[in-house]
Amino acid sequence: MKRFSRITGTGSYLPAARLSNADLVARLASEGIETSDEWIVERTGIRARHFAAAGVTSSDLGAEAARRALEAAKITPKDIDLIIVATSTPDMVFPSTACILQNKLGANGCPAFDVQAVCSGFVYALSVADAMIKSGGATTALVIGAEVFSRILDFKDRTTCVLFGDGAGAVVLQASDTPGLLASDLHADGSHVDILCTPGHVSGGSVLGDPLLKMDGQAVFKLAVGVLEQAARTVLAKAELKDTDIDWLIPHQANIRIMQSTAKKLRLPMDKVIVTVDQHGNTSAASIPLALDHGVRAGKVKPGDLVMLEGVGGGFTWGAVLLNF
Ligand code: UT7
Repeated sequence: MKRFSRITGTGSYLPAARLSNADLVARLASEGIETSDEWIVERTGIRARHFAAAGVTSSDLGAEAARRALEAAKITPKDIDLIIVATSTPDMVFPSTACILQNKLGANGCPAFDVQAVCSGFVYALSVADAMIKSGGATTALVIGAEVFSRILDFKDRTTCVLFGDGAGAVVLQASDTPGLLASDLHADGSHVDILCTPGHVSGGSVLGDPLLKMDGQAVFKLAVGVLEQAARTVLAKAELKDTDIDWLIPHQANIRIMQSTAKKLRLPMDKVIVTVDQHGNTSAASIPLALDHGVRAGKVKPGDLVMLEGVGGGFTWGAVLLNF
């Protein structure tokens, strides 16, 4: 019998501290940085974001999201035989955030590793887990996106610090005899490393280079709107489906204008797009599973729905996954 993979549970977690645009504007003003709620809402659609408390790490947020996904899938940590964490803000240089999270969950023994594809990380991680399940290398995978981007923001750079937030989302992906994940399409173009990066690295006991996020927003914006349509069209073609078959588009939550443009190109009304960027900001690899879980728990995304997940970000990386939920 042919072997497929299917999402059987979703979960997410946001740190308690919520900063509205007004809160952030006041905090930045005290540092002499000028911005406004109007600018942030008009250019990005963001109204609030969550920041983790000092000492709270990606594995902490990811473990909470994972517990909720396990509960939704009605399984226990002992059932997991693969953990993949997508993150660009790992707890340590090594070992992987996945290993740290595995121990927090008490799922010790199964393979656990991180995937680093920045904001495309979750789509990459889900595709890897799908391939491992289809090839028989795993049966019950936990795929997590978890980030504490607040740790790498430059609060003196208003062009980036208003955009990002912290959070985590998780799915349980299990072997199935009916198709769940239908098609995926992943890409990277390393010639664009410089347009979105955190260049600092550890060397000889010090951090060399700038350890804070840098972005050429316009360059990223232009690339994003083009590649998101291409990736969506590729997975639809692979699955022999058309754009109007999509029930839910769940793109990376970076900017409402990018999401609107993608939806328009795919002939989808905005009420078929799950939007959380307004409340979460851009949570990088966590944004797609966070939005998926919100869509599921709000009663929007239902079993059997055709769902398009799309990631885009630093690398430059991008990709899409089309699935039957
Ligand atoms: O997660 C990975 C994917 N990331 C993305 O998809 C991000 C893609 N890029 C974007 O979302 C947008 O390019 C931004 C939201 C980052 C910027 O929006 P924009 O419409 O491209 O603005 P801009 O960079 O062209 O800046 C317009 C103006 C500038 O002022 P001048 O030069 O016109 O006087 C900026 O200095 O807005 C100014 N500006 C701000 N003003 C108030 C930039 N940031 C701010 C701010 N508050 N926070």
